Amino acid sequence: MVLYGLRGVGKTVLLVDLQAAAEDVGWIVGYTEAGAGKSLRSMISDALQSSLADLARPSAGAQIRKALKTFVSFKTSVSSEGVWTFGLDLDADAGGGADSGALEFDVSTVVRDICAAASGQGVGLALLIDEAQDLTREELTVLCSTAHLATQRNLPLLIALAGLPSLPVQLAEAKSYAERLFAFHQVRELAHHDARDAIVEPAVEQGVVWDGDAVTHLIDATGGYPYFLQEYGQAAWNWAPDGAGRICYDDARLGGLLALRDLDSGFFRVRWERATPKERDYLQAMAIDGDGGSSSGEVAKRLGKKLTSLGPARASLIAKGLIYAPEHGRVAFTVPRMADFINRQARDF
Ligand SMILES: Nc1ncnc2c1ncn2[C@@H]1O[C@H](COP(=O)(O)OP(=O)(O)OP(=O)(O)O)[C@@H](O)[C@H]1O
Ligand SMILES: [Mg+2]
Repeated sequence: MVLYGLRGVGKTVLLVDLQAAAEDVGWIVGYTEAGAGKSLRSMISDALQSSLADLARPSAGAQIRKALKTFVSFKTSVSSEGVWTFGLDLDADAGGGADSGALEFDVSTVVRDICAAASGQGVGLALLIDEAQDLTREELTVLCSTAHLATQRNLPLLIALAGLPSLPVQLAEAKSYAERLFAFHQVRELAHHDARDAIVEPAVEQGVVWDGDAVTHLIDATGGYPYFLQEYGQAAWNWAPDGAGRICYDDARLGGLLALRDLDSGFFRVRWERATPKERDYLQAMAIDGDGGSSSGEVAKRLGKKLTSLGPARASLIAKGLIYAPEHGRVAFTVPRMADFINRQARDF
């Protein structure tokens, strides 16, 4: 499964929900976040360790012992600090061999043996990776091959990846058959009635009613983006007098102004400040087009530069996760409303 979308639409919330659902039914679950120079190998070994430790009992059967031994070999290939065997003596057991150094072989070996153990318990293995756009092409290729192997051998494996809107294209570039391996779900702003429920229902549980025009204002002001609904909703809640039992239009409007001020000085500004002066010029030239994305050629024209000379700024902005390439020759902001922020603040820059 692939969950992709802009910043703040709820991908991580969904992935954590999947994790909880898988744990509730007793699956072996590994949750990890890519980025910060972590390798897929270390991510997988850290993510699975505690779920596997739960299976490591002296009474564990042969399949589980084999999975543990293979996992230990996989883990040792990341770090050889100490011999570490879940407190079991696995010398006489089958398994191991996930330390060849070839990433694809090692990942598929460890996944195969853990899936066999899970299957024996009537459960499966879930590998959940957030910020998956930060995986390298080789790592995405390995995940595709592993998912492919699981399909061929009927292994009970769920690989769920969450990431920016560039993720589907990155996967397709990693393996041409990726589009047939994964169910792709775009996570986006909420439809009007869902945004309404998200705001109104938790309030009702607390004995507070939102006026209709207050809700409409909130949804218009936030565009239904979950993170913005959260922030504007909170600000309106705080603005409304204590004990009034209702949130009216003025609370939503004034709270909204405060929320926007806070977003400008926090959420948006932090991202803006991550860009170098050259990159900011690039972002400003993009902001003219709004949230819908820009043609890279047009951006270059606006800056009076050659397309190739802007390549490094563009690549660096993508690496920083501030923009992405929705298709060849185009760029767009990863943060909803970033263009508005830049245009709003333009006079201060
Ligand atoms: N199902 C939900 N219930 C309640 N709040 C939610 C839900 N989904 C999203 N939110 C709100 O939106 C915020 C952003 O969600 P989340 O962190 O999952 O976004 P994201 O898509 O992972 O963003 P990023 O790309 O920046 O990591 C949450 O902190 C929360 O305020
Ligand atoms: Mg997230």
